[in-house]
Amino acid sequence: MPQYDYTSMGFYTYDCLGWPFTEMLPGGGTVFIDDFALAVSGAGGTAAIAAAKMGLKTLAVTGVGEDLMGDWVLQHLARFGVDTSAIQHQPGWRTSSSIVATRMDGSRPALHMKGATGNFFVDDALLPKVIDAKIFHAGGVGLMTAMDKGRNGEVMKAAKANGCLTTVDVFAGSPDDMTAIADVLPYTDYFMPSIEEAQALSGLTARRDLARFFLDLGVRACVLTLGGDGVYYHDAAGASFHMPAFDVAVKCTCGCGDAFDAGFAVALVNGFDAETTVRFAQATSALNATGLGSQAGVESFEKTLAFMKATPMRPRA
Ligand SMILES: Nc1ncnc2c1ncn2[C@@H]1O[C@H](COP(=O)(O)OP(=O)(O)OP(=O)(O)O)[C@@H](O)[C@H]1O
Ligand SMILES: [Mg+2]
Repeated sequence: MPQYDYTSMGFYTYDCLGWPFTEMLPGGGTVFIDDFALAVSGAGGTAAIAAAKMGLKTLAVTGVGEDLMGDWVLQHLARFGVDTSAIQHQPGWRTSSSIVATRMDGSRPALHMKGATGNFFVDDALLPKVIDAKIFHAGGVGLMTAMDKGRNGEVMKAAKANGCLTTVDVFAGSPDDMTAIADVLPYTDYFMPSIEEAQALSGLTARRDLARFFLDLGVRACVLTLGGDGVYYHDAAGASFHMPAFDVAVKCTCGCGDAFDAGFAVALVNGFDAETTVRFAQATSALNATGLGSQAGVESFEKTLAFMKATPMRPRA
């Protein structure tokens, strides 16, 4: 049996969030707000905490800087039982950090300082530990500068050879990001970008064309997240479906895609079929959207399952 249920490698950030964001006053004026939160976020960080909350034995793999944000990230992960022994302190680097201003409608402009996520590296000594998992997740390919130069592909290849199911989420804004991402696709079971990222990477528009593009590059299934419109799933065996999103009162969509990654892994560990896996992952995202800060609304496997069964989905557009 693998030592871990879930390895979540990649982009971890320290986030501070305020709600509701209405305006920024000119000069030095202060706007009073009702809610404030700290979170560990990112396609690696949110996924690790949400998965741990839902019962997965989780290993975090990333880098933090030598600063207060890094100390807090380690402390916060440990609070949820995430194993932080593979997190690297990067001398001379700052911890990747964001200031997120969430609007009433849940949208969230942010200021982001890139940091130590760009410099951690899984060397051959660390490799056996990080791939000793049922599910190996690379979250934020495209933002891990040191790993994006070929090493992510090698680690994913080793993960597959070791029997892991693999999931990939990305940070992408243009076809140039394909250089980093193409490497991992042949070793990817579930590729889970947002549709905007998939479109930016491929230059294509239609869901079916996007899925075909990534399937041709080697992924076993393409799972496009569509924000409030739900998910489009398409796999190499030919199964495809669109599933609407859950109908929830949204507070903050920060980390919805990252929470989706966690829910997907939890569903896979529990042996759910493809449709139930997507439904459970969307339930995790929807719960995430009800709180301020990534994964705030996610509590446990049982609560997510109960929410999934009881909550209506949005009517199809
Ligand atoms: N407004 C919303 N209402 C209901 N569900 C939502 C909403 N926004 C997002 N979700 C859920 O979250 C999932 C992922 O959202 P989205 O496609 O926005 O991810 P993303 O753009 O990758 O986000 P992130 O910035 O966290 O990476 C969706 O498939 C959906 O299930
Ligand atoms: Mg995303």
